Amino acid sequence: MSELTKAKQDNKHLYTVIVLGASGDLAKKKTFPALFGLYKNHYLDANTQIIGYARTKMDQSTFEGHVSKYIKIKTDEDKEALSKFLKLCSYQDGQYDKDQDFQVLEKEIEKLEKTSGATARLFYMALPPSVFIPVATSIKHNNYKKGVITRLIVEKPFGMDLESSRKLAKDLGALFTEEEIYRIDHYLGKEMVKNLMILRFANVIFGSVWNRHSIDNIQITFKEKIGTAGRGGYFDEFGIIRDVMQNHLLQILTLIAMEPPVSLGAEDVRDEKVKVLRYIPPIAKGDVLTGQYTKSEDGKEPGYLDDPTVPKGSKTPTYAAATLFIQNERWTGVPFILKCGKALDQQKTEIRIQFKDVSGNMFTNLARNEIVIRVQPNEAVYVKIMNKEPGLGMKTVISDLDLSYSSRFDNAVIPEAYESLILDSLNGDHSNFVRDDELDAAWKIFTPILKTIDQGEIEPIPYAFGSRGPHGVTEFVAKHGYERSNQEYAWPSHSEASVAAKGQDQKVKPSS
Ligand code: BG6
Repeated sequence: MSELTKAKQDNKHLYTVIVLGASGDLAKKKTFPALFGLYKNHYLDANTQIIGYARTKMDQSTFEGHVSKYIKIKTDEDKEALSKFLKLCSYQDGQYDKDQDFQVLEKEIEKLEKTSGATARLFYMALPPSVFIPVATSIKHNNYKKGVITRLIVEKPFGMDLESSRKLAKDLGALFTEEEIYRIDHYLGKEMVKNLMILRFANVIFGSVWNRHSIDNIQITFKEKIGTAGRGGYFDEFGIIRDVMQNHLLQILTLIAMEPPVSLGAEDVRDEKVKVLRYIPPIAKGDVLTGQYTKSEDGKEPGYLDDPTVPKGSKTPTYAAATLFIQNERWTGVPFILKCGKALDQQKTEIRIQFKDVSGNMFTNLARNEIVIRVQPNEAVYVKIMNKEPGLGMKTVISDLDLSYSSRFDNAVIPEAYESLILDSLNGDHSNFVRDDELDAAWKIFTPILKTIDQGEIEPIPYAFGSRGPHGVTEFVAKHGYERSNQEYAWPSHSEASVAAKGQDQKVKPSS
């Protein structure tokens, strides 16, 4: 059975999709393009009605412009699909806390349900956290009907710390059941992140070395070239740890570190993820390094504090490195180094698993084995190995076994993370969403260090826009065991020209 047929069959109910916060950035950049992607590929029933709701007043044609703005049209087929898709979309403005407005919305939903025959409702909350609860309350009071399947997708931030996250969970839990709530972490929808379980548990060669006996250290790195780009006001409240590390990178960590689940069922997977988190003690002050970007060296790119929406003198980190330890049988003593930053030299997310030194001294100048999982861009898995340099001698050289998706899977279309997750929610599959106890465990690890940072006890180290990050990062990872080889090595070896043509800077020397 093809994946497409399977998805269509799993998707038992016909939905009305209601996007709350429809006039905002997230809806425009992610939600509507993802819904369109699903529609175009027939994962969304052709009768699905989509209602946008937000405070801004907008007529239908302005709304359609907003919906289409980030949808990529490449062919005539796409064009035709978009024009049909737009016919399914309508817009209603209203306040977030007015029952009256939500009753108008209810009438509209019911009217559409009559013609489409929909029996289920998906509410997508593309909203700022300040209105999560007012909107959820309004939905519960006005748009929640017994016998109608209701699903609610919620976007981060899920609180600021353990306390506020618990309060949010409690307030939301009083309105909707855990079964009805889908907490999105879009990294869980990324192709390579979804590949982690298969790599680990469907390959004996990886499974048997995946532990402290063979692995020395693991790095999970997120780099972005852009700064806060006009989002400074929002970003400053949270900082890079809450924005990226406590959710996206920690989710990757749990998938790398968890024990094999009993099955692929959502609760079995999430049980194992929570267990890993509960083995991690709060991050120690000495295991954190933070930074904040300043103007680029040529002065062309602004510093973080030059953003007019950022409060003067803010100490919010735009870069962070933190080392976590998992105190269980499999991982004791293995540092998990998480690094993330904005306004850096490259854009990439990758997982680098570095193995221990080979024992014995038969060879000299050996580099450690590494498994590198390139999440984005240019999805790949490559294993760095030592090899004999071809020729008459016995010289060792670093090489790799390289599974680059672009060359291995010729016509593969990698779905957008949001497409994959919205489809999961339509199918009632929670495995790639964050459960309430998982969130609680994640906040327990980060809350103490975040308080220390918020109180200004850790001074961010300045780094120039477009640089590799603050001074001290190399020493930080070295302190936690990462060993950089002196041998020359660059990845990818075979398609550098095409990578260069795409403008990606992936070449790191001496060894990456
Ligand atoms: C978001 C963060 O969750 O993830 C952003 O709020 C960040 O700051 C983004 O830029 C990165 O997502 P992606 O999919 O572009 O890697």
